[in-house]
Amino acid sequence: PLLYIVTPTYRRPEMVAELTRLGQTLLLVPRVHWILPEDSHTCSSIVTDTLTRIGLPYTHLATPMPEVYRKQTYVPRGVANRRAAVSWIQNHAEPNSVLYFLDDDNSIDVRLLEQMRYTEKVSMFPVGLIGKFSVSSPVLNKEGRVTDFYDGWPAGRKFQVDMAGFAVNVGYLKKQPRVTMPYIAGHEEDGFLKSLNLQLEDIEPLANGCSEVLVWHTRTFKNQVRDVRPDKEHSSENVQQLLS
Ligand code: UGA
Ligand code: MN
Repeated sequence: PLLYIVTPTYRRPEMVAELTRLGQTLLLVPRVHWILPEDSHTCSSIVTDTLTRIGLPYTHLATPMPEVYRKQTYVPRGVANRRAAVSWIQNHAEPNSVLYFLDDDNSIDVRLLEQMRYTEKVSMFPVGLIGKFSVSSPVLNKEGRVTDFYDGWPAGRKFQVDMAGFAVNVGYLKKQPRVTMPYIAGHEEDGFLKSLNLQLEDIEPLANGCSEVLVWHTRTFKNQVRDVRPDKEHSSENVQQLLS
């Protein structure tokens, strides 16, 4: 099966670094199609250039977050663009394939990507470096079935998982009549999984019975850029180009 990796992204100083690191990780995995839905009005050339350079098969989309959500106290990040990617998959994906949402700043062990390839409905696995418990994971019973979740922020959610904590079979996705992702910060995953008519007993646990962390919710420190003009001693041509 083919893996469709959906990575929402938006323009900021860290973007090319994030996409280079993640894209070059994905190069280690065969049969990957990278979907980059940008939170912008147009497909920016800096993303196109980065994708061309990396050389993975890709689809570059552009769908801006509606202004009304950008003004909220808790902004639902990456929803408009993930929705665009889901609808692209519903219309264009190979039937024998799997969808995985992987944010541009996360870190992943390629072994997990191989495991999720065989997802029949929805598979789940632990995510490291997240929330106040430091890990978020499905809880399994003695028979190895998912019965609960261990997560620092339950918030009344049926599926207490991060966006990087599950993968979905595309054939199964296509059979669901009302797939959506809500514009509610913190409830995007739960809302999406509920819209798939998923039951706890359907979940396929990976990562050795959810006993290993193979994906991490890393976050990139934002460098405080104060002044991007080269000073007199450093205003050679190459420095001018670096800063342009
Ligand atoms: C956490 C979750 O891991 C995300 O899956 C979830 O979307 C987000 O919270 C949320 O609920 O808002 P976090 O690290 O806090 O993620 O968020 P970011 O990494 O800043 O953003 C998540 C993804 O959306 C990234 O791939 C980012 O590039 C993208 N994004 C972020 C946009 O497309 N537009 C934005 O304005 C901000
Ligand atoms: Mn993040």
